[in-house]
Amino acid sequence: MTFEPRLTRDWSDPSVIALEGYVAKGGYAGLNKALAMETSELIDLVKASGLRGRGGAGFPTGMKWSFVPQDTGKSTYVTVNFDESEPGTCNNRELGERDPHRLIEGTAIAARAINCHTAFIYVRGEYLWQAIVIERAVREAYAAGYLGTGIAGTAYDLDIVVHRGAGAYICGEETALLNSLEGLRGQPRLRPPFPAVEGLYASPTVINNVETLMNVPDIVVKGAEWFREMGTEKSPGTKMFTVSGKIERPGNYEVPMGTSFRTLLEDYAGGMLGGATLKAFTPGGSSTPLLTAADLDVALDYESVAAAGSLLGTGAIMVLDQTDCVVEAARRMVLFYAHESCGKCTPCREGSWWATRVLTRMEDGYGVPEDMGLMQDMGKNILFRAFCALADGMASVINSSLKHFAHEYEEHVRLGYCPLTGAPADHAQPTEGVAS
Ligand SMILES: Cc1cc2nc3c(=O)[nH]c(=O)nc-3n(C[C@H](O)[C@H](O)[C@H](O)COP(=O)(O)O)c2cc1C
Ligand code: SF4
Repeated sequence: MTFEPRLTRDWSDPSVIALEGYVAKGGYAGLNKALAMETSELIDLVKASGLRGRGGAGFPTGMKWSFVPQDTGKSTYVTVNFDESEPGTCNNRELGERDPHRLIEGTAIAARAINCHTAFIYVRGEYLWQAIVIERAVREAYAAGYLGTGIAGTAYDLDIVVHRGAGAYICGEETALLNSLEGLRGQPRLRPPFPAVEGLYASPTVINNVETLMNVPDIVVKGAEWFREMGTEKSPGTKMFTVSGKIERPGNYEVPMGTSFRTLLEDYAGGMLGGATLKAFTPGGSSTPLLTAADLDVALDYESVAAAGSLLGTGAIMVLDQTDCVVEAARRMVLFYAHESCGKCTPCREGSWWATRVLTRMEDGYGVPEDMGLMQDMGKNILFRAFCALADGMASVINSSLKHFAHEYEEHVRLGYCPLTGAPADHAQPTEGVAS
């Protein structure tokens, strides 16, 4: 079957950014249809489509909606996770700015499915332009009667509030996002209770990623079977992938789930930059274990990437070539987690800081033979032992780089300098206060 883009099909037509252009292309037909359906029918449809959350974990969307109790006497809420801060990931950004009404329509359908009358779009602090585009689209939707009181001529009311974050990666974690939205410090909450039962303002809440929700209008209009025509049985549909690093044509690509990494990197993204040799890549952002050239034929779906020892995550493929130092790449990524750690729990707050120090001294040529064991200990003891998955992302960088490139770490220690740059790097304070 020839591939027809779904989420990106109107990217070459800027008229859809305005409501008039979007409606001219069939926009808001999904919302009109959803408003005439029973809420249970809507949830069953999304369940049948097999749509899975694109925010990282791949949780079935229809099932998530079905967990929301309708009889608590409290309001229900939909919260759109537009925080997108995972290193290497920028597809939500382009989806939102090129087709903002599809996001509003998907959000409104999700709201209808759980009988919610106030939805929030939480936009990453740095995404100023995207927030402006979404706010403008929300204003247009109000003016045209797709939002507000009695939407699309029905008795159903819906408000959408656009909220800008302040630039913290942890606020993409769904419970930290809820805290941030409530004006509290952006730190994760203990689960259970899960947000579907007790989320925003202690009320039942659905939190979905931008890409997840932008799939919903077409599912409502064209049906679950249509959605399943692309992708694999357990990972149906298409998915956005952000390709960056040593690649000829970096960018966002939409491909059917189940496409191989090789096809994406070679046919879509033009292959390695200047014909370089692939050394390693992150399959789903910096939080997902590194894969190598041996994994190029792995299929891009949740099951296949897990079987290869990693995660599909946010679909951010960062490509390293033979001139890139894995110790330096790991150092930079771990430094990111150290900077973004919210400080709530010890393995992450302390572990990320210490791991950065040890990686820095290894890269700078001051490593000692015991550092290998120390890094292994840290990776093992942090993974799955912290309060939230931010620390698991950091531990995955350490564990997977050691798994595939232990020899490169050992070379740094043996030579006393980085074998790829040939000279000590210029990072501050390599040894002071670092245990060996
Ligand atoms: C540290 C951290 C950061 C996250 N950042 C995001 C994010 O920016 N966007 C997102 O959709 N999900 C993010 N997630 C996942 C969310 O917690 C949540 O699973 C997701 O928004 C659910 O939406 P989905 O079911 O549509 O995938 C993050 C998780 C963690 C642990
Ligand atoms: S793992 Fe890190 S980000 Fe998550 S709660 Fe603990 S300190 Fe905060």
